[in-house]
Amino acid sequence: MKTIQLKDKKFKINIPSEEILKQVDRVAKKIDKDFKGKTPLFVVVLNGAFMFASDLIKSISIDCEISFVKLSSYHGTQSTEKVKEIIGLNQDIKGRDIIVVEDIVDTGITMENLLADLNTMKPNSISIATLLFKPKSFRKDYKVHYVGFEIPNDFIVGYGLDYNQLGRNLSDIYIITD
Ligand code: IMP
Ligand code: MG
Repeated sequence: MKTIQLKDKKFKINIPSEEILKQVDRVAKKIDKDFKGKTPLFVVVLNGAFMFASDLIKSISIDCEISFVKLSSYHGTQSTEKVKEIIGLNQDIKGRDIIVVEDIVDTGITMENLLADLNTMKPNSISIATLLFKPKSFRKDYKVHYVGFEIPNDFIVGYGLDYNQLGRNLSDIYIITD
């Protein structure tokens, strides 16, 4: 079993790259079908979602646009419950169909803040695409439309997700062992 160390924590492989790409492709096909005839705007939440967004959007075949926001709420392995918006949207989204692209929805606080912000800009619709979803941690009541994997409440890294900024470069997803 492949294990790695990032700073003081050890991790073991949890979801191999091939399996990730298979689910990303499934989500892309569903979006293609649901948004046929529309031109959605993907709003990618940096930093964590950069790798998922890249693979997802390469598999989308309908016309689409891409924009980025940068948010941050985690410190170490715990959510701080305070969301900082570091880079905001610099584009008019009034009347647009928005697909927010996230790496992971955990408690749901980050996404709730972003949804509230986006809603003030009067888009036509907002959908959520997240690679990972922790249903046992989720404390909100909005719908998460597209989910790659539902996972338990353990801390994970890789494929864009970090532990104190490390591990984002890994193409597989790893789970904490201690
Ligand atoms: P939420 O606000 O609790 O839903 O947390 C969402 C954000 O926390 C995500 O966008 C991630 O950046 C980060 N996060 C949540 N769980 C993990 C994890 O297991 N590993 C790494 N980052 C995580
Ligand atoms: Mg994130």
